Amino acid sequence: MRVLVLHSHPVESSYGAALYQQTLESLTKAGHEVDDCNLYAENFDPVLSRRDRLIYHDYPENMELVEGYVERLKRAEGLVIVTPVWNFGFPAILKGYFDRVWLPGVSFELVDGKVESRLRHIRKLGAVLTYGATPLRAFVAGNPPKKIVKRVLRAQINPVRPVTFLAHYDMNNCTEETRAAFLGRVKSAMERF
Ligand SMILES: Cc1cc2nc3c(=O)[nH]c(=O)nc-3n(C[C@H](O)[C@H](O)[C@H](O)COP(=O)(O)O)c2cc1C
Repeated sequence: MRVLVLHSHPVESSYGAALYQQTLESLTKAGHEVDDCNLYAENFDPVLSRRDRLIYHDYPENMELVEGYVERLKRAEGLVIVTPVWNFGFPAILKGYFDRVWLPGVSFELVDGKVESRLRHIRKLGAVLTYGATPLRAFVAGNPPKKIVKRVLRAQINPVRPVTFLAHYDMNNCTEETRAAFLGRVKSAMERF
């Protein structure tokens, strides 16, 4: 499969970046063609401007400023997100990616007032997330990033396909052992993706 990997950690030497490298390596080892999209390294502009908003529903005009990202998304047969959780959501650069690239005409179309997916070419969705919080704290907070992956994105891509959701919680108390164990989980899950 052609797998688009979205990454949004600003520090190259971080554990998050190590998870990203592991994801790329394991997917490649499994024979997938990987499109590595490191949003910080690519200087992705996440701000949906006044003009973007005014032409948001007008396709294909709405795609002009993010054409390359639209093409990469259209070519994808698999999608994996590797990101830390910030304020129980995605970092702004990743949130902005969805705002600016998953446009009407790209990810969905309104047909007689009903949303129709245009992402059925993506057969598999995965996410590798790190949280500072414990699973309990994340649960009490409603765990929005998990819901975004397992409900919102899944529904947009294909609601009947299973999702590979991997999370290292409680990074505030992580150890070398917990980090290594999670890297191992990511390795084997991505080799089976
Ligand atoms: C701006 C910012 C906001 C954060 N907000 C949350 C949060 O709401 N919930 C949570 O579980 N962790 C939160 N964290 C902790 C990060 O998820 C945690 O530091 C990260 O997953 C660990 O990866 P890293 O050390 O490679 O950055 C936040 C961290 C930062 C920098």
